Amino acid sequence: MARLVIVSNRVLTPGGGSSRAGGLAVVLKDAVTTPGTLWFGWSGRTADETSTDAEIVVEDGVHYATISLSRDDYQKFYVGFANGTLWPLLHFRLGLIEFRREHLEGYRAVNESFAHALAKLLRPDDLIWVHDYHLIPLAAALRHLGVRNRMGFFLHIPFVPPSVFGALPQGARLLKDFCAYDVVGFQTRAHHRDFLDCVHQILRYPSDDAGIVSAPSHAVRAIVTPVGLDGASFHKQAERSARGKNSRRLFASLAGRHLMIGVDRLDYSKGLVNKFEAFNRLLARFQEHRQHVSFLQVAVPSREEVAEYAALRPELNRMAGDINGRHGAFDWVPLRYMSQGLARSTLAGFYRLARVGVVTPLRDGMNLVAHEYVAAQDRDDPGALVLSRFAGVASYFDDALIVNPYDPDEIAEAMNEALLMPLEERQRRHRRLFECLCALTAEAYCTKFLKALSGNVGGGARSSRREHHESLGHT
Ligand code: UDP
Ligand code: G6P
Repeated sequence: MARLVIVSNRVLTPGGGSSRAGGLAVVLKDAVTTPGTLWFGWSGRTADETSTDAEIVVEDGVHYATISLSRDDYQKFYVGFANGTLWPLLHFRLGLIEFRREHLEGYRAVNESFAHALAKLLRPDDLIWVHDYHLIPLAAALRHLGVRNRMGFFLHIPFVPPSVFGALPQGARLLKDFCAYDVVGFQTRAHHRDFLDCVHQILRYPSDDAGIVSAPSHAVRAIVTPVGLDGASFHKQAERSARGKNSRRLFASLAGRHLMIGVDRLDYSKGLVNKFEAFNRLLARFQEHRQHVSFLQVAVPSREEVAEYAALRPELNRMAGDINGRHGAFDWVPLRYMSQGLARSTLAGFYRLARVGVVTPLRDGMNLVAHEYVAAQDRDDPGALVLSRFAGVASYFDDALIVNPYDPDEIAEAMNEALLMPLEERQRRHRRLFECLCALTAEAYCTKFLKALSGNVGGGARSSRREHHESLGHT
């Protein structure tokens, strides 16, 4: 059997803390369980020079190979182009883009360094699966070095329509980089469609109904493969964790009040400002909840070298102070705001205690917190989920209370509805959500993607069309 090589900028190395990691590493950690797999990426450290040889650690048969980046490369590649240009672009935030040509050059240079270090570790029949926006040019860089293996790319974040993508300087070249892969995967049909539209309108590459793009050199299969987690095991984790010390302390501190919970990286795409404003409006407009609800928001710091991220923190501190000053009482702090991460196992118990989960990003590729909240619930007495229509997971979770995250009043109304929702309705919605969750597992995600990646595209493109329809959900 061919060896699987996973490549991502962020790698969850053995012993590395997970509370700052974000969804990609969580998904891959669940997915990368086969002994022999190689997981290659950035070590998370900077050094004087970008390394040319990877450091390798082995745990449970999985090989983790990482390289460090020079401070200059890190600034241009990670802070500059990946998170200062591509992240806002692909989250529909053109006004936040900071484009510099030297950042784009640094981004390409780091992809070439990744390619050089990785090429040394490759075997001829390895299947190479690259993840996320940091590494779009990696296949082209590897091909340039003569690597002929099959390569797939999965984008964890949204994709945008041509009218938005067109704002990216030298965007056509980046689209061509996508087309150097054999397979490219997206979280939702909408992102998949937007990608095909861009390729068609900007590059003039035609594609068929099954998402097979005719690039000049080969056929590229664009597929939809939503990420997921192992819902049953997270459910068990939540049961255990809810009996643990931290959950018991949290429960005691609530003194009989309902808990609402939000868990996000401290990122402007997560809609935290509107979420806080929504809670403010909930307490102002629906006064029966005063003294009866506590909202715990965990906001783990992220990418603090990027100006927009740094600016968000004081803004949220100010809002939290205002809300508590305005609505709080000597024996009740309405908003408990933590700008520190918590272990995922601790969060599991907290989700289970919460009557309402509030997941309201302005845009999100998928959003695993929504999955985790649903997985953690007590089936007999489940909580309700308030969910942004612009999170990828909203394409799958019809039974959440779906809101427009740009309207704090609409979020406040959904919070009110969730807090007042009768048990029967909570149970009914949760049953359906849990069914959806069980269809979106890490295993299903990997199986589907790897099936496409190991498939024969060239001459086999026609014969695999039915299978490809299935991968798009056109069964
Ligand atoms: N997470 C965590 N500790 C924290 C905050 C978040 O372990 O303090 C985890 C959370 O449980 C989830 C992931 O980080 O598994 C966040 O993934 P999501 O898809 O929601 O968002 P992303 O950060 O990838 O944009
Ligand atoms: C999102 C991205 C990932 C990224 C994670 C954490 O999930 O899709 O690629 O790893 O956020 O962000 P960071 O910049 O810390 O890696």
